[in-house]
Amino acid sequence: MDNSKIKRYTVTAALPYTNGPVHIGHLAGVYIPADIYARYLRSNKRDVKFICGSDENGVPITLKAKREGITPQEVVDKYHKIIGDSFKEFGVSFDIYHRTSSLTHHQTAADFFETLYNKGVFTEEVTEQYYDPTAKQFLADRYITGTCPKCGNENAYGDQCENCGSTLNATDLINPKSTLSGDKPILKETKNWFLPLDKYEDRLRTYIESHKEWRPNVYGQCQSWLSAGLQPRAMTRDLDWGVRVPLRDAEGKVLYVWFDAPIGYISATKELCNYAKLDVWNPKAEEYYISSYENDKCGWEEYWKSDETKLVHFIGKDNIVFHCIIFPAMLMAHGGYTLADNVPANEFLNLEGQKISTSKNWAVWLNEYLREFEGKQDVLRYVLTATAPETKDNDFTWKDFQARNNNELVAILGNFVNRVVVLTHKYFGGAVPTCMEITEVDQAVIDELAGYPAKISASIENYRFREALSEVMNVARLGNKYLAETEPWKLIKTDEDRVRTILHIALQIAANIQILIEPFMPFTAEKLMKMLKNGGHDWNDAGTVNLLKRGHDIGEAVLLFDKIEDAEIDFQIEKLNQSKASNAANNVVAIPAKENIQFDDFSAIDIRVATIVAAEKVEKTKKLLRLTVNTGIDERTVVSGIAEYYKPEDIVGKQVSMIVNLAPREIKGILSQGMILMAENAEGKLTFVAPAEKFQEGSIIR
Ligand code: 2FM
Ligand code: ZN
Repeated sequence: MDNSKIKRYTVTAALPYTNGPVHIGHLAGVYIPADIYARYLRSNKRDVKFICGSDENGVPITLKAKREGITPQEVVDKYHKIIGDSFKEFGVSFDIYHRTSSLTHHQTAADFFETLYNKGVFTEEVTEQYYDPTAKQFLADRYITGTCPKCGNENAYGDQCENCGSTLNATDLINPKSTLSGDKPILKETKNWFLPLDKYEDRLRTYIESHKEWRPNVYGQCQSWLSAGLQPRAMTRDLDWGVRVPLRDAEGKVLYVWFDAPIGYISATKELCNYAKLDVWNPKAEEYYISSYENDKCGWEEYWKSDETKLVHFIGKDNIVFHCIIFPAMLMAHGGYTLADNVPANEFLNLEGQKISTSKNWAVWLNEYLREFEGKQDVLRYVLTATAPETKDNDFTWKDFQARNNNELVAILGNFVNRVVVLTHKYFGGAVPTCMEITEVDQAVIDELAGYPAKISASIENYRFREALSEVMNVARLGNKYLAETEPWKLIKTDEDRVRTILHIALQIAANIQILIEPFMPFTAEKLMKMLKNGGHDWNDAGTVNLLKRGHDIGEAVLLFDKIEDAEIDFQIEKLNQSKASNAANNVVAIPAKENIQFDDFSAIDIRVATIVAAEKVEKTKKLLRLTVNTGIDERTVVSGIAEYYKPEDIVGKQVSMIVNLAPREIKGILSQGMILMAENAEGKLTFVAPAEKFQEGSIIR
């Protein structure tokens, strides 16, 4: 897009699914680069709206709710908060972090669908889908399991077999089973509304081909979709969670999550501008809704419907087709909307050589990082930018994280700033010294410094954030080299004026770093601002050596970065090893049975129904509870390793199964007289084995 035409920017970051916290893969792929871009634009005084929010619809949410025994709304409320809070703490500077369960979103998405419907865009198709007669609902692919026709895995899902990796249709499964009722589903006809992507193929091709500057991975993926030929795609689903289809004959149907999610960018912008329509149909509550506000304070349409607006979508590579083919087709069908100028999708980030996996807990979770590395947001921002998977998949390792912190942030950036500030205090009482005579060496440094802002700008504007960051670090390297060459600590004895000039220039370099590093490491920029007492500058001031006036008092030296010790890294590696061990346990389909025993061996074990009458934690232990149990024979003490799963107050009165003739053992100084039976799953989680109904204590279990 012609830069001179651009009046404003709409920058979107993929809306994360609210079925779990975000991890480093998301940060490296989407949120950090998007934040760098938005912060850079703001520092350049450009008009920008940086938009994101939670993607709260779709099957993954309903599955999570089912698994956790809570409602989908409870799932999304929980993760919307966790994700939103973590982004904020991590310094991701969204102008709004909205959510797709909001009324504004439901209205906007339903209106969008209705417009397309009224224009006759959709085709209606009746297809046969699996239906669970017991649960009385159509089944999304993930709600069906069965035997994979390719590898025989009996637990394949309706859309994919996780054993052999094949993509499946639910109807391919042998012996399909509904995960809702466990029954065999039946095929039943259902009508859905399809977007005929094939009709937009030519326009999409023209659009994509006008953007040969896009990253090769993005451009290539679009081309391969187009050359394979586009097919109509259903934009509605038989599901009870999501944006209801705003049509009379669409009972029990919601919009396809990939139809409503990108509209989430638009609804978030509306919310940001505090815009609402009056007297509109609220598809969520199924009633007319009268909004109390109508002041479109920032003109949301300008950000979506103007050819002077540059729209950029930051996404991961698995989202390319939705942002480059389906969403543009929706916008074309609607009319009036601007199409994205760029979609800088990243490749994937691996962790310690393995694919990041939420279900296998093979991830570094942002909320945990923030807790475990308090105040070190910028270290992660730095490492994930320096190793960003911009052109190919990349690997995050904890050792590399440590090395980059210690050898780059501490040794190069932190060291330079610290030396300059400390020396200024030592020799000149913390006041910026006067620049005296400029030598050739100084001039070369000044000239080199002047070139950096444009170089870094060019990298950022071309979405090459790694390159941009490495140039910022080169400014710190330049500073270190300058000090090493001029050695002011030696000259101070013989030529104080020379030292004035050197420190004057070195301080200007530090002040430049403050501006240039802000998009990447905002917390460090803030610390620098306080240390140098240097506010009010933006990108346009960078490159010059008069940011700090002579005589200006700077603050005390504060360390920008601390060394990260081996123990902290070992702890993280150990955490991952534990995930690995528990995954290995999960992969064991069934633990093989122990060797046969004789009936007499079994009858030697005296197992009884018992009731817990008192419980308390065993001091200085994490896992142990001391229980007082009524066995029907007597009342006795048992020490049980269940404290991680049960609180003492929750289990008093609970009936359990107990071995009453196990020889007493001393545990933590307490004589334990028996054993409570527990079932343990592959993750090591424990649960009581109890009689199915209240039973007389002392009853024999056999
Ligand atoms: O892949 C994902 O995490 C999706 N929730 C991204 C949605 S992006 C947009 F379209 F909202
Ligand atoms: Zn398979």
